[in-house]
Amino acid sequence: MAQLIAGNWKMNGLAGEATLLLSGLTAGLAGISADLLVCPPFTRLIQAASLLAGSPIMLGAQDCHAAASGAHTGDISADMLADCGVGAVILGHSERRAAHGESDDAVRAKVLAARRAGLMPIVCVGETGAERDAGAAQAVVQRQLQGSLPDGFEGVVAYEPVWAIGTGRSAGPEDVQAMHAVICGCLRGRFGDAGGATRILYGGSVNAANAAQILTLPEVGGALVGGASLQAEAFLAIARAAR
Ligand code: PGA
Repeated sequence: MAQLIAGNWKMNGLAGEATLLLSGLTAGLAGISADLLVCPPFTRLIQAASLLAGSPIMLGAQDCHAAASGAHTGDISADMLADCGVGAVILGHSERRAAHGESDDAVRAKVLAARRAGLMPIVCVGETGAERDAGAAQAVVQRQLQGSLPDGFEGVVAYEPVWAIGTGRSAGPEDVQAMHAVICGCLRGRFGDAGGATRILYGGSVNAANAAQILTLPEVGGALVGGASLQAEAFLAIARAAR
């Protein structure tokens, strides 16, 4: 399976910036064999769907509500995302777990909602620096996987150590390899061969300079890219390093 390079724009991207970025991406696809996904903010999804029409770049969102509709002021449902032409959704990102108190139970409910709407969930897990220093990194990630993934899970998992996000300090290849092996073991143990074949992305300060080293690790199924996904050339350079 091709690797997946996903761009998480976070809370960035006004109309003009989105047009510039997406036209830069669609113009630079020659020689790229990886699957590409961009996840703009909600406010740019319809614009992005239109700009990406006919392009192989997939469109994703950064969160959804667990309910299909109803009295949830300010929230967006998975069906609404699908209605905008979205095919994937990032769920349980550490910034949402930290800033919005999203528990594993809440993330699991969102994963189920995403699947009901036909979206591919990208479920994020990862330990904080303090948890790693305490020797608890693997236990934390195993607990997050157990709680955040519903039975019969189909989708993508992203390992994003919190201490590596937005810091310019990505995890080293040995740490990435070791944690991806743990995650793969958990997924295989719980979901069988299909679980073992789940793509596991690495995220946390992936950039054009370190992408090749990370993406050649056999356990790595792609990358979830934050900061470097905001510049077309940087994102394309990461995609070119993928297989
Ligand atoms: P970063 O963010 O690449 O800016 O570290 C990654 C993420 O949070 O998904």
